Amino acid sequence: MIYMPCPKRFHSLDKGRFIQRKPRSPDASKVDQFEQTGETIPQLPLNDETNTKIPIIGLGTWKLNGIQCFNTVRKALVLGYRHIDTALMYENQEDIGQAIKGYDRESLFLTSKVPHTDLSKQDFLTAADNILKRLDSDYLDLLLIHWPNEEVGVEEPLDALEHLLEARKIRAAGVSNFTRFHLIDANRYNLKVVANNQVECHPHLPQYDLVDYCHRHKISVTAYSPLARGDVDADPVLQEIASKHMTSPASVSLRWLLQRGLIVIPKSSSDEHLEENLKVLSWELQPEDMAKINAISERERKVEPEWAEFDRVP
Ligand SMILES: NC(=O)c1ccc[n+]([C@@H]2O[C@H](COP(=O)([O-])OP(=O)(O)OC[C@H]3O[C@@H](n4cnc5c(N)ncnc54)[C@H](OP(=O)(O)O)[C@@H]3O)[C@@H](O)[C@H]2O)c1
Repeated sequence: MIYMPCPKRFHSLDKGRFIQRKPRSPDASKVDQFEQTGETIPQLPLNDETNTKIPIIGLGTWKLNGIQCFNTVRKALVLGYRHIDTALMYENQEDIGQAIKGYDRESLFLTSKVPHTDLSKQDFLTAADNILKRLDSDYLDLLLIHWPNEEVGVEEPLDALEHLLEARKIRAAGVSNFTRFHLIDANRYNLKVVANNQVECHPHLPQYDLVDYCHRHKISVTAYSPLARGDVDADPVLQEIASKHMTSPASVSLRWLLQRGLIVIPKSSSDEHLEENLKVLSWELQPEDMAKINAISERERKVEPEWAEFDRVP
């Protein structure tokens, strides 16, 4: 297998001299020797309409590109990750496509997202084909509308998602960064297509009402930025609970989200963190720990680009 994530060569420091090195090309025929060493990740049904199940922990890949993305995905797969989260906007789908080569496609769960700039039906379908091409895959397990766009509305992208479901190019469909308002709006057209809403969620942005609304409408919720982009480490309540369980505040945050029935997609490029984030499957928070985290009053949204529509209300 030839790996070409980007035209640049990769540099490394060798005894103080800057030398150029080609990325190493892993041999697909040797994939079998990459035995899964870590956990088998439990799965959650996405909703009642589809039989699709999603592994409750996935690998976030925003800001991972090139050889770093390739190596991280490869390492994660060895550890037992099978759910990879990406998006057309992340510009890393070729890297992920290369990293999953040699793995049984059926054993993987790939999520991608179409940006808010491509929500007309035709643009959406073209973007979906583009994603499949970049990942070198025949289908996606889950395709999301990345951000709502009030100028286009939800009818056209929902139509496109239904078309892709019928064409078996995607196994399940969903949305991302949708507020209750957007979901109510989607319900006027075709909410049954929507199996998942991926939103920012962590102890500083708990999203109780939105999660409750989604779960009542059989929409699973994926928590993005589940570590508040690393900031949960400094939270004193999480630190106290972490020391009681001899773990880290990051692990406490993930555990709290999982015990609320959410799916989590922490991003990590460090081997140590990739492993640590899977270990949350082997212990539990007690009800009093959950209550303490629920009582945290700090609120901070980490991801709010200029095109976000979080202020729209029903
Ligand atoms: N739908 C959307 O609009 C949207 C928006 C944002 C994100 N997302 C998705 O959600 C994924 C995760 O969100 P995110 O990347 O924003 O942030 P995140 O997962 O909350 O945090 C990532 C940061 O936490 C660090 N980290 C990871 N594991 C750790 C651990 N065990 N202990 C301490 N620090 C740890 C990482 O550093 P190291 O790399 O050094 O481990 C990195 O700096 C994204 O990668 C993307 O796939 C979706």
